[in-house]
Parts: sequence; structure tokens; C-alpha cells
Amino acid sequence: MFQGKKILLGVTGSIAAYKSLLLVRLLIREGATVKVIQTPASRDFVTPLSLSTLSRNPVLSDLSTADTWANHVELGRWADILLIAPLSCNTLAKMAQGLCDNLLLATYLSAVCPVVVAPAMDEDMWRHPSTRANLERLRSFGNLIIPVGNGELASGLHGEGRMAEPEEILDFVGVMLKAGTDRDLVGKRALVTAGPTYEAIDPVRFISNHSSGKMGIALAEELAGRGAEVDLVLGPSALSVHQQGITTHRVISAADMYKVSMESFSRADIAIMSAAVADYTPVEVAAEKIKKSGSDSLMLELTRTKDILKSLGDIKKKGQVLVGFALETKDEKAYALGKLQTKNADLIVLNSAREEGAGFGVDTNKITIFSKDGKEWAYEQKPKQQVAKDIVDQVVKLLYV
Ligand code: CTP
Repeated sequence: MFQGKKILLGVTGSIAAYKSLLLVRLLIREGATVKVIQTPASRDFVTPLSLSTLSRNPVLSDLSTADTWANHVELGRWADILLIAPLSCNTLAKMAQGLCDNLLLATYLSAVCPVVVAPAMDEDMWRHPSTRANLERLRSFGNLIIPVGNGELASGLHGEGRMAEPEEILDFVGVMLKAGTDRDLVGKRALVTAGPTYEAIDPVRFISNHSSGKMGIALAEELAGRGAEVDLVLGPSALSVHQQGITTHRVISAADMYKVSMESFSRADIAIMSAAVADYTPVEVAAEKIKKSGSDSLMLELTRTKDILKSLGDIKKKGQVLVGFALETKDEKAYALGKLQTKNADLIVLNSAREEGAGFGVDTNKITIFSKDGKEWAYEQKPKQQVAKDIVDQVVKLLYV
């Protein structure tokens, strides 16, 4: 997993810095290329000589020496991952505030790669409201935080705040790196809704829409291809799926789709609602075919169906990733963001019915994904299989946070 990966390891001033020696050794043994940046304070805890020997690279520490300037931008672009372990309370606070008074902080601010931190501090510092707030701020920047351990602390006390063990850090980073490969969903379960629904009016007529089910099927195939066990809840679509890892549940109406989805969701790590579910269904289904009458008009009374996405959003548990779609014809972004919020989704995939090569029936789609934390990714028009990959890539990022 680490072969050929470039890890930039930040070491800060904490007793746990001694563990970074073992961490470097493990990373190197796994095949990673490691460059270490030390903060000035960390040199009191672990020497550059030890770290450079183990990492097989010179240790970087200063923003500049007498005649050279350390290129933090280049460093931030070189790395596949910036891992800061241990992360001291002081560096945490500076990162949260955007301070830049050493090379590690300058590199952090210019890093374009994922940033992972392994905090280390005494329990009282760990529990202090300012530490909590700073960690939340880092989370809001998209940085990943490796949970601290519970045990003996440098103060001699027992409690929370110990840096995770090097082996645990290695596992955490390994899972992250795996998220970029193609078998990153082994052991995960996914629920996908796809296709239209039919809302019966009488024994021979129904209300429906033009959804073909292609996008949802492409998503199910992508998820299963990456190792997930998929429940595909498929409305009346002419298409069918035969792929290992996909169990297809054929449904007709919005009510059927709701029932099967609710059952499957309790087992799911991921749920992607790509079905074009009817929003309204006839209050009564005529037992016999409705005959023409003398009148020029016919009134049908409709009632709202249950919103499956919203129902799942209401019962979603921590760790479950919920994705909705929004197909709009105007004010696309505003409507998509509205749905993201009211339905408690983690991601909303917007496709505009105004765009050519997007939406129902066609083999391509052009999407923009919005995340709950305010991010937005716009993609080119692509075949639905590739669109499915883009969506699942975003899901995987959330899943492994
Ligand atoms: N959805 C659902 N159950 C419904 C209606 C919609 O799960 N009864 C899901 C769709 O699968 C999609 C998202 O909700 O992921 C958005 O659906 P859409 O019909 O575009 O939005 P609505 O919430 O129905 O709003 P409106 O029709 O007013 O645009």
C-alpha cells in the first residue's frame, strides 16, 4: 500500500516525538519515501540525526538558512500525504489560526495533499475547550485526526491524550491510501435506489417519469466493482444487472421502494438515492379500468409519497454516508443545497435537465457534487460509468474520515 508513496512527516515538540522514530522506520519498511520536517521545539525531544538516518533523507527544519530558502510550496506539492505525528497543542493552535512561523506550518498552509494529524498531549490539555475548538477547526478544513489513546501520560497521570501507537498510525494512513485504489470498499455494504417508480391509477395506467435507471445501475456496478456488497433497489426499468456483489430488489411503486430501502439501510455504510421517485401517488387506485365519461376533464386526487432520502437522513447514524440526487430545471444550485440540508444528506449530486447530455435516458451525465461542509466539485460531461466513479470517489473520502 505504501510502495512508491511520498509521506511528509511533521514532528512537533511533544514527548511522543520518540515514537516518530519507529513510525519512520515502519513507513520505510513498507516502501514509502519519507521526508521529515521538524519544528524547532521538537529537536529537544528527538534529534535530526536519528530522523535523517532512519528516513534516509535530510531533515528539514528551517524556513531558510544563510543562503537558501526552503521551498515549502514544493514540499507541499511533493507529498501524497502530510502526516503530523505527534501534533503538539502549540502546533495545533497555530494550524487552527493559520500562523506560519516555522517550516512545518508554512508547508501545512501550502499543502495540496490530504493532511493527517496524530495529537499528543496531557489529558487536561486534551480536554481544554480551546483544544476542542482547535481540533474542530482542523476538521472543518478537511484535515483528518487520528484518535488519541487512553493510558499512561508523560505527566505520570493516566487518561486520554496519548498519541496513537505508530502501528495504529500506519494502519490509518494505509486505509487512506487504499481509498485511492480500486478495491477500497471490501467489507462495506451499500444501498442504491435507481430507476423510476410506477404509481398505479387503475389496473392498466400509472404515473411515472423518464428515468431509465442507467445512473443508479452504473453506481451499483462501481460500488460492487470496488468490493462493496450492494442492495440495488430498482424501479421498473428495462435494464437488468448481473454482477457479483449486487443483489437486485425489483420494486414498482414509491411505497415499495421506501419499504425495501428502509430495511436495507440499517445494514448499509453507504446509501445513494439516485431513483427518480414519484413525489405524488393517486389517493385511490381504481379497481377497474377508468372509463371515459361525458366530461372533458378528469380529476385525479394525489397524495405525497414518503421521501425515502429524507427518511434515511432522519435515522442516519454516525459513519453512514448518505447521497442524494437533484435534477433541476432552474435555480439548480440553490435547490440542490436546499435538498442537501433538508434531507440531511452528506452529498448531493446535481444534474441540470437544461444541460445536453445530462439527466434521463442518455448514456452521459454532467454533474456537480455539493458536500455538507460547503465544498463543491463540478465535472465535465462523461459516460455514466465514469460519473459513477467520481461520485464513489467522493463517498470513499467521507467514509474513511
Ligand atoms: N427522493 C426520495 N424519495 C422521494 C422523492 C425523492 O428518496 N419520495 C430522492 C431522490 O432519489 C433524490 C432526491 O430525493 O435523491 C431528490 O429528489 P427530487 O425529486 O429531485 O427532489 P424533491 O425532494 O422531490 O423535490 P422537488 O420535486 O420539489 O424538486
